[in-house]
Amino acid sequence: MSDASSTFGVEVRDIPGLPITNEPKADPCALVIFGASGDLTRRKLIPALYHLMVDGSLPDPIAVVGVGRDKSSVDELRARLRESTGQFSRRRPLDGQAWDRFAASFDFVSGSFEDDSAYLALRERLALIDRTRGTRGNRIYYLATPPDAFPVILQNLRQHALLTKTSAPGATPFCRVIIEKPFGRDLASAQALNELVANYQDEGQIFRIDHYLGKETVQNILVFRFGNSIFEPLWNRKYIDHVEIVAAESIGVEKRGRFYDTTGVLRDIVQNHLLQVLALCAMEPPTSFAADDVRDQKVRIFRSLRPISGEDVSTQVVRAQYRGYRQEDGVSPRSRTPTYVAMKVMVDTWRWQGVPFYLRAGKRLARQRTEVSIHFQPIPHCLFGRDEACQVVQPSVLTLRIQPQEGISLRFVAKVPGDQLSVGNVLMNMTYAEAFKKPISEAYERLLIDCMRGDATLFARRDGVEQAWKFITPILEAWDADNGTEIPQYEGGSAGPKEADELIAKDRCRWTDLGEG
Ligand code: BG6
Repeated sequence: MSDASSTFGVEVRDIPGLPITNEPKADPCALVIFGASGDLTRRKLIPALYHLMVDGSLPDPIAVVGVGRDKSSVDELRARLRESTGQFSRRRPLDGQAWDRFAASFDFVSGSFEDDSAYLALRERLALIDRTRGTRGNRIYYLATPPDAFPVILQNLRQHALLTKTSAPGATPFCRVIIEKPFGRDLASAQALNELVANYQDEGQIFRIDHYLGKETVQNILVFRFGNSIFEPLWNRKYIDHVEIVAAESIGVEKRGRFYDTTGVLRDIVQNHLLQVLALCAMEPPTSFAADDVRDQKVRIFRSLRPISGEDVSTQVVRAQYRGYRQEDGVSPRSRTPTYVAMKVMVDTWRWQGVPFYLRAGKRLARQRTEVSIHFQPIPHCLFGRDEACQVVQPSVLTLRIQPQEGISLRFVAKVPGDQLSVGNVLMNMTYAEAFKKPISEAYERLLIDCMRGDATLFARRDGVEQAWKFITPILEAWDADNGTEIPQYEGGSAGPKEADELIAKDRCRWTDLGEG
């Protein structure tokens, strides 16, 4: 017997054929970004729009209009955005011609969100853009601001006749609003936020961004599950022992200490990103890939999550803080905000009864690693020799690597060549970079273009957001009620606290080693 894992690649062919969905180019529109000089705009939105321009995917014509307090001229702003795009773009160096085309579509209205005159100026500018560039009155408002600015922005947009509410699908000119997480802090505040936005826009006009859903590898979960008939028969309690979902980050809270300290890992990553990934892994096949068919199935999973509340929280959920967190800028020296969580989640459906989903997320861990591991059941009886040798044979694991080294691998048992019956665990590995020989686009590129096309499949729906909070809120409440217990600390650069190992060891499982290839 051999316990040495070996790795080999597979040849992957991008089989020519029609794409499953042949998306039409989006109609011309004006994209208005509130919070134009903020971090999200600089780091993510403008680079994403620039890439879409390079790829020729943006609607033609398009106008991008920033709104913010910045007093700079539009040319100064363009120059600053060019610099930051050069810094944050996934394609370097910047393609000057493509940038110039993008910059020509960029405009700016200076003013505060409370300021009437800013909306009057915006209204005039948009009317001019419609006339001169042909954007046909189509509008997307991107609220790249903290949520406390939403009410005043929405109210002012409506007051200045810049916002129309309609439930008619395909109505033109269209009017859409994009909002960013956090969608509330708990169930009550999420409901209040949804209620507020619903006063101004119909659900079909609201695009809630969870950037994880825009990641190629997250989208591939559904393609992998429902584009291959060989996995679906195994995708249930009969063959799967447990599922592990991890979002490990090596970075700390960086410059976001103040925000993070009032948020914590459960709100920051689990309520949205990890539960979305869990839903994609656990959901039933949708009737079609249409937005509401997919989202209906996801919401069913959120509704099936077995509640964890009261005393169960301490046995099923581990929270911890990295050592040194309390000394970070903007963080309270007595902070009890967790930067790490590990939890056991049960999905009460026929398919998943008895199969634990172990979730783990944290900052300042050994390395960045976001992935889903499907651990299949061990073989029922080993034929290969002595018992202790059979223990070398590990159950098969299918890993969907979301980032980095995006790809899929399957660990299984194979015969070691030779004249003995000797077996080893091997890893068959596919990476997107090698298989498709093209760079993976950024989540925001896909999400922006989908919103322009009016496709809400990859956006969170109101009921989904509220159901996810319904599951998370009792855990937060139990933590708030327990302010006596010491929060475990873990070393920066480690795999997390020992309490998390104990949590999973109770079920005779162990976390995938964060350092393992
Ligand atoms: C954000 C969180 O939503 O996701 C951050 O607020 C986190 O704290 C980030 O670092 C992780 O996203 P990604 O795409 O880098 O995995």
